[in-house]
Amino acid sequence: LEVLQKAGLEIDNCPTFKDLPKPEQKSRIRAADAMICRSQPKVTAELLEEPGKLRAIARAGVGVDTIDTAAATRKGIVVMNTPGGNTVSAAEHTIALMFALARQIPAADATMKAGGWDRKKFMGTELTGKTLGIVGLGRIGQEVAKRAKGLGMEVVGFDPFVASAKVAELGMTPGANLEAMLPVVDFLTLHIPLTPETKGVVGAKQLASMKKTARVLNVARGGIIDEAALAEALKAGTIAGAGIDVFSTEPAPADNPLRGAPNVVLTPHLGASTSEAQENVALEAAGLIRDFLQKGIVAN
Ligand code: MLT
Repeated sequence: LEVLQKAGLEIDNCPTFKDLPKPEQKSRIRAADAMICRSQPKVTAELLEEPGKLRAIARAGVGVDTIDTAAATRKGIVVMNTPGGNTVSAAEHTIALMFALARQIPAADATMKAGGWDRKKFMGTELTGKTLGIVGLGRIGQEVAKRAKGLGMEVVGFDPFVASAKVAELGMTPGANLEAMLPVVDFLTLHIPLTPETKGVVGAKQLASMKKTARVLNVARGGIIDEAALAEALKAGTIAGAGIDVFSTEPAPADNPLRGAPNVVLTPHLGASTSEAQENVALEAAGLIRDFLQKGIVAN
C-alpha cells in the first residue's frame, strides 16, 4: 500500500473481494485501472466481460492459473506475476513436509496432545542417502534441490525444458523422464504449473510404478497429482506417504479423498505463507503496477 500511495495512486483495498457478490466484484474491477490479487480471487472471463478502464492485473505470487489470461488478452489487459518472491518459502515448505513425513511429526504430536506416549509406532526414516526426484526445475525446484543436497540426499531432476547437461551442472542426476524416475526415488516432488498437459501427470499408473516405501510431495498446484488415485494408493499401502499443500479444489472440500487417507500430512496451501514471501511478492506486485501505470513498463 505504501508503494502505491507514494506513487500517488488511489487504492481500493478489498481483502474480502473473493466473498463479494459477483455484481459488486464486477463494478469494483470496472472502476480500477489495475488490480493486484493473491491466489483466492478467481479472475474469470465473466468478471472481465466489461472491464471498464482495467488495463493490468498483477498476481502477488507465481501461478496465473487463477486468472483467465486468454480473456484478459482479448480485452487488452496485461497480466503480470511475481515469480521470485516466494521461491524460498515454497522450497522450505517442501523440505518441511518431507521431514514431517519421514519422522511422522504431525501424528506423533497429535498422540502426545491426546495424552499418549508411543515410541514404537513412530519409527522414522532418515533423509540422508535417500533419493529425491524433482520434476520441474524452475526457481522452486532448483532451491529444493540445493537444500536436499545439503541434507545428503541423492537428487534426480527432470524438466522437459531443461537440457540434461544443465541438470548435471546444477548438481543433479538427470532423469530421462518422469516414468524413468518413478521406480528409483524415495521421495518425489513436483514443481510444475497446472496446465492441460500436466493435469493428473501422476495418476494410478505412475504411483503403481513407485517403491512401496516412497513418498510423494505436492507444493505446486492441485490437480497435477490425481487425488483419488493417491488416496487409493495410500490406503492400499502401495505408497508410503504423501505431503500435500495444494488441492484440485480450494478450499479443499470436506470429502476430499486425501482428508481420510492414511500417512498423509496436509496443509492448506501454505507454501508461500511466510511474512518474508508475502512482503516480497507485495512489494514486487505494487512495483509492477506502479511502473506499468506510470511508465508503461511491462515485466513478468
Ligand atoms: C503462488 O502461485 O505463488 C502460490 O500458490 C502462492 C499463493 O499465491 O498463495
